[in-house]
Amino acid sequence: MQDNMMWWRGGVIYQIYPRSFLDSRGDGVGDLNGITEKLDYVASLNVDGIWLSPFFTSPMLDFGYDVSDYRDVDPMFGTLEDFKALLEKAHSLGLKVMIDQVISHTSDQHPWFQESRQNRTNPKADWFVWADPKPDGTPPNNWLSIFGGSAWTFDSRRQQYYLHNFLTSQPDVNFHHPEARQAQLDNMRFWLDLGVDGFRLDTVNFYFHDAELRDNPPVPKGEAKTLGAPEANPYTWQRHVYDLSRPENLDFLKDLRALMDEYPGTTTVGEIGDDNPLERMAEYTAGGDKLHMAYTFDLLNMPHSASYLREVIERFQRLAGDAWPCWATSNHDVVRSATRWGADEDPHAYPKVMLAVLFSLRGSVCLYQGEELGLPEADVPFERIQDPYGKVLWPEFKGRDGCRTPMPWTDGEQGGFSPVEPWLPMEARHLELAVSRQQDDPNATLNTVRALLAFRRSHPALFDGDLSLVDVGDDLLGFTRQKGDETLLCVFNLTGQEQQTTLPVEVASDLPVAHFTATRDGSTLTLPAYQAAFMQVA
Ligand code: NOJ
Repeated sequence: MQDNMMWWRGGVIYQIYPRSFLDSRGDGVGDLNGITEKLDYVASLNVDGIWLSPFFTSPMLDFGYDVSDYRDVDPMFGTLEDFKALLEKAHSLGLKVMIDQVISHTSDQHPWFQESRQNRTNPKADWFVWADPKPDGTPPNNWLSIFGGSAWTFDSRRQQYYLHNFLTSQPDVNFHHPEARQAQLDNMRFWLDLGVDGFRLDTVNFYFHDAELRDNPPVPKGEAKTLGAPEANPYTWQRHVYDLSRPENLDFLKDLRALMDEYPGTTTVGEIGDDNPLERMAEYTAGGDKLHMAYTFDLLNMPHSASYLREVIERFQRLAGDAWPCWATSNHDVVRSATRWGADEDPHAYPKVMLAVLFSLRGSVCLYQGEELGLPEADVPFERIQDPYGKVLWPEFKGRDGCRTPMPWTDGEQGGFSPVEPWLPMEARHLELAVSRQQDDPNATLNTVRALLAFRRSHPALFDGDLSLVDVGDDLLGFTRQKGDETLLCVFNLTGQEQQTTLPVEVASDLPVAHFTATRDGSTLTLPAYQAAFMQVA
């Protein structure tokens, strides 16, 4: 690992979805003490830190992404004392702790909104985005909610609409209001004072909206719909020019960074869903005065081929400057990568080589719970669907429950997650991939991840070295990573066939990584299907 203050630059952050990690209380829902119990396991993966999805007080209509008290733990997950114990244990294991901050919107149960909706004159009247109806009573403009329908809901007391980019119960905080902005920064300070090492910032480019409330234009016919929402969602039919990524956000991100800089060694990773995600990522993370890192949906939505990955890397490299990405290939919002990538491929081998790519890219990494086991997307029957997003767009889009089912720790009852029926069903196919089954199997995905991350740790060039794409033919992905006098060559075969290539740089030695095989004869490299090779450049 490198300089402790800069741990995040090239660090690997393991994302935990608290509801589904481990239920220590026997109520079918995971909790903070369950996470603490499993931190040794997390540390054994050779990751640098964790990101905890929300555990704050919430009515849970969006499973914690609707916060009603930013400074407390929801009783479902435990207490503030439990969180402090978690933090202490993580730190004793050398793991950094990042928590989610969902400041763009609150729950409609939050006292700020309860007050704001009373009338047009109360002290919090403008802390949320209120607007008069059009003369015909319809919403102020054409903005849509990602979770379905208009982004505006009428409130009879104020005789006005309020804005919500997600559920009607997630009113959008008005970031044009200085006191509201400051209040959110104060909430973040509360956790920094408790000793957290950083924040994952939910929907970081949604903080500001166009104060003139101008209509978004439609996506012109034939042009790509680039936002991170599923195709079936009409939200993708608009260009999101006015409801997100507004220029005012940059100044707020500077204020946020000034707060973080008061706590050395802390960091931020922003979530970016945008029409031009890589551009936004570069804009938000360059210059050292805004975010430290950001992730986009570029590797979260698509199946991946060497050419697609080359395109993403090239585009980012062109824009990057000193910007810093955090690459993620799975999380609690998208279909699990093993299913996305592996539909027609080898279900075990393909995820392994893709993880090898992920851990070799220039940037930090978010690794979602269960990805180290190669879990496929769970098949949740309609009667068990919890995600409101899934209910709205069913059957074309089944929501996000399939990636949120409980972690399989053992192949026994409920996968060792809970003694009772969990909030989402334990996927039968996950039992044979349980931690207990993979733990001692040297060929298991779990141990591949451990080996790859140990390898990454021992090579500073993989941590934050420069990246240059090299030409190894259309079917392979190849690049060098260079830092100081170390230059590594990394080549990946994402296809189901053996591939041979002539290496464009002179190799000094091969760097073996457990689970990966390749043969090299001088400058001729032969890579079996779904294999990766790492070499030291002369
Ligand atoms: C992004 C989060 O990752 C997602 O789970 C949530 O529903 C929305 N933001 C709204 O907070």
